[in-house]
Amino acid sequence: MPMTRGGRSVGYAGAILAAGAALAFLAQVGTPARSATKGEAKKAEPKANPRAGKEIYEKLCGVCHGPEGKGDGQALRGMPVKPKSFTDAAAMRDLTDQHLFDAIQKGGVGVKKSPMMPPFGDQLKDPQVWDLVAYIRSVIRKAP
Ligand code: HEC
Repeated sequence: MPMTRGGRSVGYAGAILAAGAALAFLAQVGTPARSATKGEAKKAEPKANPRAGKEIYEKLCGVCHGPEGKGDGQALRGMPVKPKSFTDAAAMRDLTDQHLFDAIQKGGVGVKKSPMMPPFGDQLKDPQVWDLVAYIRSVIRKAP
């Protein structure tokens, strides 16, 4: 019994040393990449990615909301409902991120607005919807 315990503890110590060496090695290898990511994360929002949102926007939303989010897309030309311009800071101030999220996910009907705004909850995962919210917010900030 004592022999086994002794043997085991040597085994553990060895394993810990080996793991420690491996970790130290990984930490060294990983350092440059990790600090680069950290620097970027500080600039962009940590979770939502407005650049990814822009790509989705251009595919799915621009046709109605317009290439710059001004609510002047081709598909709504001549329609009675006109979405507000996402660049209009005054119009957008009262809309919470959650409202924008719900409008995109559940459609106009989900936020007591026009059914002309289709729901995208089936097509887009939650993080993608948040990316869109981030993109919409980034358009406001750029407005004069
Ligand atoms: C078929 C046309 C159409 C498409 C496609 C469309 N929208 Fe809309 N959207 C509308 C209309 C019309 C409204 C305005 C509804 C209202 O004010 O009653 C609207 C409203 C909204 C609102 C709510 C704004 C508010 O005033 O509360 C958000 C946010 C929004 N759209 C985001 C998006 C995003 C993001 C996409 C792409 C994933 C998208 N829409 C695709 C037509 C569209």
